[in-house]
Amino acid sequence: MTVRALAMALGLLAASTAAAGAPADVDLGRKLFFDRRLSVNGTLSCAMCHLPQQAFSSIELRTPVGIHGVSLRRTAPGLWNVGELPKLFWDGRSPSLEAQALEPLVHPEEMANPSIQAVVARVAGLADYRAPWRAAYGNRPPDGAALARALATYQRTLVARGSPLERHLAGERGALSPLAERGWQRFNALGCVRCHTPGPNAAFTDHGFHNTGVQARSRARAEAPTEVELIPGVRAMVSPTEYARFGAPFRPDEGRYEVTGAEADRRAFRTPGLRNVALSPPYMHDGSLATLDAVLDHYAQGGWPADAALSPLLRPLTLSADDRAALKALLEALTSPRAAAVQAGAATP
Ligand code: HEC
Ligand code: HEC
Repeated sequence: MTVRALAMALGLLAASTAAAGAPADVDLGRKLFFDRRLSVNGTLSCAMCHLPQQAFSSIELRTPVGIHGVSLRRTAPGLWNVGELPKLFWDGRSPSLEAQALEPLVHPEEMANPSIQAVVARVAGLADYRAPWRAAYGNRPPDGAALARALATYQRTLVARGSPLERHLAGERGALSPLAERGWQRFNALGCVRCHTPGPNAAFTDHGFHNTGVQARSRARAEAPTEVELIPGVRAMVSPTEYARFGAPFRPDEGRYEVTGAEADRRAFRTPGLRNVALSPPYMHDGSLATLDAVLDHYAQGGWPADAALSPLLRPLTLSADDRAALKALLEALTSPRAAAVQAGAATP
């Protein structure tokens, strides 16, 4: 290990301890996160859409199923390293984890509680919360802000870093395979870094919003037969009705525009950070691309050029078979040891 890599490893340790906050808060937040009684009818916990062994996302469906059995409009983002994000949700509408935590509790398609007060009253009445609550908050009676703070504090401990690419960028020799190293060169040369900028902690997002044509592509699929990759390596022509049957039906989404009303934000979505990306298919805000290969196809086509609002940063790309293999190896070199261990069931967060 080089001196820099060692310093970084120590830094990581310090950062994760600092982010962890008071352990009693973390314990309370974890208990809340996994508790189905937080939803109006006791069926849904946060963890049922954000599964620890699926990078705190849902990988089995295009988008998660909400409380009434209806597919949600967007995918559940993975929550590893979520404490670093300045704006939450695919459209960036929430400024902090504390503010965010209250939304699913009362969202009519998610946990569907009539009010935050109703959740607070329910938790206050549960005997098994008395001791953990007192440990975290002393005599402060349960309220929405404290509930949100505990959930946020737990989520800030979901740190999974130290991927081969991050170690490579910190100067560690041999951290990347030669194939992934070539992928890193291609990632730069093809302009992927313009939006997926390495940034602090190798997060690979500019925290900006761009229209890469995903909505327009999904709309086109909903309106005419299209070729779809059903499972890795298996492609088929699929009619709009068939497509709606095996996945979530198309639901229009204007992304960031729904928050700002600015024309420049039409169908623009947050650039997702790419850490641990290989662990959380399907991809894009609507889960419409099943595999990393499908994502590469999307970029090779230049997104969806028929969308007049498409980002000017996208152009059709010529990707050789070597380029694809290298880019995939690169995306896979963004997996951190902790996230991989949790995914494999060898560790619990
Ligand atoms: C029914 C499924 C479902 C449940 C239950 C649920 N979520 Fe989510 N979560 C989602 C979806 C879908 C999104 C993305 C929504 C969007 O972008 O508009 C999301 C987004 C988030 C985000 C933002 C992540 C980011 O990268 O911006 C956080 C944090 C989060 N959820 C935490 C929670 C917590 C805490 C709970 C429990 C109180 C919870 N979720 C319950 C589906 C769910
Ligand atoms: C114009 C900015 C931009 C450029 C350039 C760009 N991306 Fe993206 N990328 C995004 C945005 C925005 C999304 C989410 C789009 C959506 O959900 O509608 C995304 C999504 C992704 C995802 C899916 C992540 C997830 O969690 O769903 C991968 C993988 C990805 N990009 C890789 C790449 C690669 C590889 C390149 C270069 C070939 C590239 N990107 C170029 C902005 C960009």
